[in-house]
Amino acid sequence: MQTKVIKINPINPEKSKIKIAARIIQRGETVAFPTETVYGLGADALNDKAVKKIFKAKGRPIDNPLIIHIADKKEVYTLAKKVPKEAEILIENFWPGPLTIIFKKSQIIPKITTAGLDTIAIRMPANKIALSLIKEAKMPIAAPSANLSGKPSPTCAQHVIDDLYGKINILINGGETDIGIESSVIDLTAKVPTLLRPGRVTIEELRKVLKEVLVYKTPNKAKLKKITPKSPGTKYNHYAPNAHVILVKGNFQKTVKKKIIKLISMYNTMGKKVGVMTVHKNNNYDSDLVNYIGSKNTIIAKNLFKTFRYFDKNNIDIILAEGIKEKNFGFAIMNRLEKASSKIIK
Ligand code: TXA
Ligand code: MG
Repeated sequence: MQTKVIKINPINPEKSKIKIAARIIQRGETVAFPTETVYGLGADALNDKAVKKIFKAKGRPIDNPLIIHIADKKEVYTLAKKVPKEAEILIENFWPGPLTIIFKKSQIIPKITTAGLDTIAIRMPANKIALSLIKEAKMPIAAPSANLSGKPSPTCAQHVIDDLYGKINILINGGETDIGIESSVIDLTAKVPTLLRPGRVTIEELRKVLKEVLVYKTPNKAKLKKITPKSPGTKYNHYAPNAHVILVKGNFQKTVKKKIIKLISMYNTMGKKVGVMTVHKNNNYDSDLVNYIGSKNTIIAKNLFKTFRYFDKNNIDIILAEGIKEKNFGFAIMNRLEKASSKIIK
């Protein structure tokens, strides 16, 4: 398959170019496009043949449901069977934006889109290209992150090219995404609203507008083999680069720095190429590659997946990552770091 790359202005999307991409969606084909979180791989959410193409291109397990993207808040009333009061509050406060809400689904959604579940994940993205594409296509667009299954989510067009070139019809290049990690996912079909995946909309922010919000704890690996977790995506190894990621948690000056220095020399002695992801500027580790990914959460999130991919391009065997505080947006960043890690040192 030929993948056509179309460059579109993210501030003022050219209508004629959006139209080309929208026609492709209407024809039941696939289009990768930027959102404010990461790039998504989109297709007509109501067309099962089209949705199948997403699973095929990504190599995504068919029991992992997709998020449906809309451009008009009113659409939830046709896609969801019931819109609870809590949803209206969340929509009012956070849409358009990086928050996905799980509802009971209506009849019009094909089984494949929700992987056979009776629930549906919906979000209205805050990105002009995404919104104009959905509006122009005149239909809800199902879109998982536009990476090969298991790889880190793409935050720029090049990442999509690296993973999916030749497997999708169109890639809209709209520059780098603002946030850099995927949306927060909250389940409103549970007794108490439950955060399944943390993201830019934080648990602290959610608790300001809803009475009670629980945080879903991913069951451990042994248990996962036996059950279907709440958010099916959580059972798969996610966001992981080819290199082994080792996350080092704790107080930076007291322990983390010393532990990382030790690990560098240990792995170097074993003949491994070691990269370090640091959140401390001018912190020189003596390893093969050191990448300062920022000290503010918003910058760290923007650089995280990009840095994983950068280390892979440089054939790094071991990535040593400094942990950060798990408060506010830091909680979501640590969630992605932990998921990518093959080892966590405390
Ligand atoms: O920011 C984002 O959410 C990006 C952009 C493209 O919008 N999309 C994204 O999609 O990250 P994906 O497919 O990579 O992650 C969706 C997550 C998966 O963990 C999936 O299992 C979960 O949402 N999910 C989807 N539908 C669900 C449902 N009905 N119930 C529970 N979890 C669901
Ligand atoms: Mg994904």
